[in-house]
Amino acid sequence: MTQYQTIDGNETVIRDGTIKLHTEAGFAGMRRAGALAAEILDEVARMVEPGITTAAIDDRVREMTLDNGAVPATMGYRGYEHSCCISINHVVCHGIPSEKILKEGDIVNVDVTPLLDGWHGDTSRMYMVGDVSLKARRLVDVTHECLMLGIEAAQPGARLGDIGAAIEAHARQYRYGVVREFCGHGLGRLFHDAPEVVHAAKAGTGPELKPGMFMTIEPMINAGKAWVKLLNDGWTAVTRDKSLSAQFEHSIGITETGNEIFTLSPTGLHKPPYAV
Ligand code: MF3
Ligand code: CO
Ligand code: CO
Repeated sequence: MTQYQTIDGNETVIRDGTIKLHTEAGFAGMRRAGALAAEILDEVARMVEPGITTAAIDDRVREMTLDNGAVPATMGYRGYEHSCCISINHVVCHGIPSEKILKEGDIVNVDVTPLLDGWHGDTSRMYMVGDVSLKARRLVDVTHECLMLGIEAAQPGARLGDIGAAIEAHARQYRYGVVREFCGHGLGRLFHDAPEVVHAAKAGTGPELKPGMFMTIEPMINAGKAWVKLLNDGWTAVTRDKSLSAQFEHSIGITETGNEIFTLSPTGLHKPPYAV
């Protein structure tokens, strides 16, 4: 049976399997953390071009996070040392920033999580490096549509499985693979908390969504099969068939009447730049 726990904001929050239900203090904290996360990804949009290294992007993410009084939640997280994850082409997620150079035609995900005043704003977007193939642009567009359909399904009174069902139904129309090994997650005071938000699920299953729940939705969609493998560095996940993979992530809160997206960009840069 699913257990829920109300969080006012100042108590110690532990990962005990309960689903946290937040009050207005949590919404206020998440709005600020989410807005900063979106601003950081807007800055990344200004930097992405052929020739830049992923380490340079990571440096800027760290600098901007710290300048705004936050810390990158990924730094020191389970031994991870960087300020963001940067996943290029067939890398599904958790790509490690390095001296690798972005080149024309790449599609790349940057995933940031500033921790601001105790609240986590977790979001990622795809970026296109110069001219990108139609095939890659379509994958990026459809992945963004999958995220937004998942968010639309995240209504008070709905079930957790409704989110993954909406995502999978859309991806299936394009014969894209929905990655199962990595999920969205509850968050708030904690970076990764219950529940696990599976991106391919059965409608009407799982815990009820209630006002005050915070979670990420972050579908990883492959142009080929859904299968992934982990590289020897212990972090980088890639598609087994080397097909392209895309991902978008927002942090949201369930409200009495629907949901609030904490990580929208006021500039509109959170949407893919190309409509195919
Ligand atoms: N930001 C990722 C997520 O969406 C988590 C990255 S953890 C790291 O949940 F250690 F790989 F950075
Ligand atoms: Co996340
Ligand atoms: Co993330």
